[in-house]
Amino acid sequence: MILVTGGAGFIGANFVLDWIDTNNEGVINLDKLTYAGNLENLASLKDNKLHHFVQGDIGDSALVERLLSEHQPRAIVNFAAESHVDRSIHSPEDFIQTNIVGTFRLLEAARTYWSGLTGTKKTEFRFLHVSTDEVYGSLTKNEPAFTELHRYEPNSPYSASKAASDHLVRSYHHTYGLPVLTTNCSNNYGPYHFPEKLIPLMIVNALAGKLLPVYGDGQQIRDWLYVKDHCSAIRRVLEAGRLGEVYNIGGWNEKANLDIVNTVCALLDELRPRPDKKHYKEQITYVADRPGHDRRYAIDARKLERELGWKPAETFDTGIRKTVQWYLDNQGWLNNVLSGSYKQWVEKNYAERN
Ligand code: NAD
Ligand code: TYD
Repeated sequence: MILVTGGAGFIGANFVLDWIDTNNEGVINLDKLTYAGNLENLASLKDNKLHHFVQGDIGDSALVERLLSEHQPRAIVNFAAESHVDRSIHSPEDFIQTNIVGTFRLLEAARTYWSGLTGTKKTEFRFLHVSTDEVYGSLTKNEPAFTELHRYEPNSPYSASKAASDHLVRSYHHTYGLPVLTTNCSNNYGPYHFPEKLIPLMIVNALAGKLLPVYGDGQQIRDWLYVKDHCSAIRRVLEAGRLGEVYNIGGWNEKANLDIVNTVCALLDELRPRPDKKHYKEQITYVADRPGHDRRYAIDARKLERELGWKPAETFDTGIRKTVQWYLDNQGWLNNVLSGSYKQWVEKNYAERN
C-alpha cells in the first residue's frame, strides 16, 4: 500500500479515488481535516477496505512513525499543505508550520523508516512531494514557460513555504539518498475544489446571484489543468520517474482570469439559465487586487512528456464543462461546504476589497 497525506483535500481526494479505481492498491490516508479537508469527498470509499483514513498532522512525528512501521507502505505521496494564497497573506503562520515544518518532520520519519528497510523494499521505496508552479515566481507576457531549471522566485508566503519544502525534499535526496521525486504543477480545477479558489467560487457565487469578484484588471494568467490529469501525471512519475528529479506538470492552457470567469458564465447560461434570462456575466465586478499578485504562470511540461510519455487527457473546453456540470449535480456537497467557517472567510477576504 501507499501513504497519502492530505488525501481529504481537493487534489488528494481525487488522487485517492482514482488510485483505488485504477491501481486496486491500498491507501493510508493521513489528513488533519483542516477547513479544506472534507471526508465527504471520499464518501464513495466508505466501505472500501482499500481505504484506511487516519485523522492527524504530518508534523506529528510519533503518529507518522507508527503508521509507517505498522503499514510498511511502498511509497509516500505528500499532498498535505495549506494551499490558498489569499489565506497565506492574512495568516502566514499555518503555512510555515504545515508546509515547511510539517514536510520536514514527514521527511525525517520517512528517512528513519526507509533506512530500516532492506532489499527491494528499500530500493523501490519512493517519497513523492507534490508542489506548485508558483515557486518559480511570475512571468512577463512573452517570457518562455517555466522549465524545471527555472530559478526559484516565490512571491507569496504560500509559494515561499512550498519553495522551502521543495528544497528540503531535494536536500534529503542529496544528503541522505532518500529516493524522492518532486512534481510542480500548474493551477488545477475539477470536482471537490473548495470554493475559496477562483473557478468554484465563481460557480457558487453565480448560482447564488452574488457578485463575481475579479481581482485587479482580471488579466492575470494561469495555466489550467484538469485535476484528474494531475493525478495521472503523479501516478506516472511515481511509477517511472528518475530518482531525485523534478517534473513540471501542466496542460498548455494559459488563460486570463477574466476569460475563465466569462467561460464559466457562458456555460452556466447554457446549463442553468438565470430565471430572469439575463447573462451571468452581468454579475462580474472588479475588486481590489491581491497584494503582490503574480501576473503570469505557465508550465513547460515537455520533460514529463519526453521521459515518461505523459499527456493530459482533457482539453480546457472538455474539463471546464465537466467541472461546471459536477457542481450543478452536487448541490448537497456544496451546501455542506458553504457552512459557518466558509462564510467567515468570505467576509474577511472580500469585505476589504469592495
Ligand atoms: P487543499 O487545501 O484542497 O487540501 C489540503 C489538504 O491537506 C486538506 O485535506 C487538509 O486537511 C490537509 N492538511 C493541511 N494541513 C495538514 C497537516 N498539517 N497534516 C495533514 N493534513 C493536512 O489543497 P489542494 O488544492 O488539494 O493541494 C494539494 C497539494 O497540491 C498542495 O501541496 C498544493 O501545494 C499542491 N498544488 C495545488 C495546486 C492547485 O491548483 N490546487 C496546484 C499545484 C500544486
Ligand atoms: P486562485 O484560485 O486563488 O489560485 P492561485 O492564486 O493559486 O493562482 O486564484 C486564481 C487567480 O484568480 C489568481 O490570479 C487570483 C484570481 N482570483 C480572482 O480574481 N478573484 C477571486 O475571488 C479569487 C479567489 C481569485
